Amino acid sequence: MPENALTVTDNRTGKTYTVPITNNTVHAMDFRQIRVDPDEFGMMTYDPAFTNTASCQSQITVVDGDKGILRYRGYDIAELAENCNYLQVAYLLIHGELPSHQEEKEWNHQLCIRMGIFENIKKFMEGFRYDAHPMGILVSTVAALSTFYPDSKNVRDPETRKNVIYRLIGKMPIIAAYAYRHRKGLPYVYPEPELSYTANFMNMLWQSSELKYLTSPVLEHALDVLFILHADHEQSCSTHAMRSVGSAEADPFLATAAAASALAGPLHGGANEEVLAMLTRIGSKDNVAEYVKGVKEGKYRLMGFGHRVYKNYDPRARIMKRVAEEVFQVTGRNPKIDIAMELEKIALSDEYFITRKLYPNVEFYSGVIYEAMGFDTEMFTVLFAIPRTAGWLAQWQEVISDSEQKICRPRQVYTGPGLRHLKKIRAASVEPAGVYRKAG
Ligand code: ACO
Repeated sequence: MPENALTVTDNRTGKTYTVPITNNTVHAMDFRQIRVDPDEFGMMTYDPAFTNTASCQSQITVVDGDKGILRYRGYDIAELAENCNYLQVAYLLIHGELPSHQEEKEWNHQLCIRMGIFENIKKFMEGFRYDAHPMGILVSTVAALSTFYPDSKNVRDPETRKNVIYRLIGKMPIIAAYAYRHRKGLPYVYPEPELSYTANFMNMLWQSSELKYLTSPVLEHALDVLFILHADHEQSCSTHAMRSVGSAEADPFLATAAAASALAGPLHGGANEEVLAMLTRIGSKDNVAEYVKGVKEGKYRLMGFGHRVYKNYDPRARIMKRVAEEVFQVTGRNPKIDIAMELEKIALSDEYFITRKLYPNVEFYSGVIYEAMGFDTEMFTVLFAIPRTAGWLAQWQEVISDSEQKICRPRQVYTGPGLRHLKKIRAASVEPAGVYRKAG
């Protein structure tokens, strides 16, 4: 009997099957051979929300949720955050290695020359209402880029892929900044090529009339570190959306818009906004115990806590806490950090959270930092989408180049009615146009 194999006996037939094990994984298709009747479809695996199903092999990011480890291309996240800037990390994710000096110069140059957007994109963005959520503006504008670069649909062409990667990483900050300025009714600010990626973004957000916005190097560095922490996270919900849409060979602007849409959800990237709303609702350290009681009673979720993969402290949350202290040295202390720390203290010593292995995730502290830095709450998820674009694109490249991948199309277990027949139905009459009927 082969050692690296699983032996399965189907008690319905008494038949035994041998299924190979590779990387501690069995291939779901190997179960298709298991059937009672030769005409049957065969056995499938059932895994709602993919809680125990690997949908790809990947060489980009690894998360060991039990040990609290996160690595990009083999490098520990803390080491990268300490020693690299965001664009170097983006290069690492896309290319697999950190850039040489020359490669970095070329990478920065290619991104820089693609930072601008067409004037009609600005006009298009002006169509949004003053109170449009910036994630909605970002998603729609990224999707609209597809119409400006029709060549991007040639996803099998490596040169096209390279161009799209430069365009998306280059343009994300300007789209985000214009979404913000539009809401504020402020004129748009063009990118400044001599500034760093993060300083340029901050300048496009906050430059006032002709005066360049001079950011503190501490805040510029803090945002850069936050960008590194958010750059990739293996098969998250948004990454799965990127891969799934990308697998249909939709152009990468559309796939990125789909990924950003998934990110906007409050259970994913949108959690940072929700955490701040929660801390505001709690109001003071004194109300924390009462709030935790409500969470345990199932009245609400503790936002910024829990993770599908981390069943230990999220290493990014640890780095976030340090960044928060550095930021507060410049901006003054955001009092919400004390509520957050009290929440963490009470939750981590409480049976409910201990037994469920619920720890603070990356979003628990990010909102408090962003608020101290002067970002509006509505911009928080946008601040996640900008750096995650590099991760999405690295994963998209992988899905396009992986010969094992096909169009992503899960199976289902149908539990609806069997065949039934229509009774004779009479169409409802349509009210003539112009007739106003009051609702309710
Ligand atoms: N507060 C209270 N209870 C929680 C929380 C929470 N934040 N998260 C999970 N639980 C409980 C669940 O109620 C469940 O309890 P039960 O076994 O008694 O039913 C148990 O812990 C397991 O939770 P699941 O929902 O099965 O965990 P899942 O892996 O599906 O969800 C998720 C992960 C969505 C992140 C969840 O923990 C959550 O909603 N957290 C709050 C939102 C959040 O912070 N999201 C950001 C994640 S990080 C990111 O995407 C960048």
